[in-house]
Amino acid sequence: MACQGGSEITRLRINAMLSRIDHVGIAVRDLDEAIRIYERRLGLRSTGRERLEREGIEIAMIPIGESRIELIMPITPDSRVEKFLQDRGEAVHHVAYATDDVRASLEKAGAAGAQLLDEVARPGAHGTRIGFVHPKSVCGVLTEFVEADGHPGA
Ligand code: CO
Repeated sequence: MACQGGSEITRLRINAMLSRIDHVGIAVRDLDEAIRIYERRLGLRSTGRERLEREGIEIAMIPIGESRIELIMPITPDSRVEKFLQDRGEAVHHVAYATDDVRASLEKAGAAGAQLLDEVARPGAHGTRIGFVHPKSVCGVLTEFVEADGHPGA
């Protein structure tokens, strides 16, 4: 029957649980200035910065409840975030959902017709595993799955 996807898909659906918004990524031109804006205007507090050389970005995390704002600044001209800034200016860049299994969440989304930017999980900031789904497949929003590496809130 058409509505029965087989045991493999059913198993993935059970195993890949999106549980909350892990973070919202915001592309910025000047990370220092962006941190100041979030701290002064919204009263939030940045807790750490990290350079991801392979991605050509530097990020700052700002905790808010169980979630975070992830400020993202490109540090190389060929960074995908640099291209985003040139196309769109400073703006919300992606929404990241916490999952207990990035690989399964990617497989599930792909099986449901989404265009995947990552076929398998790859290393993210602070020891996490991440994977992205193309914005065309999720109402124009670049979508990230995040799996914490043993320590939630990392
Ligand atoms: Co992110």
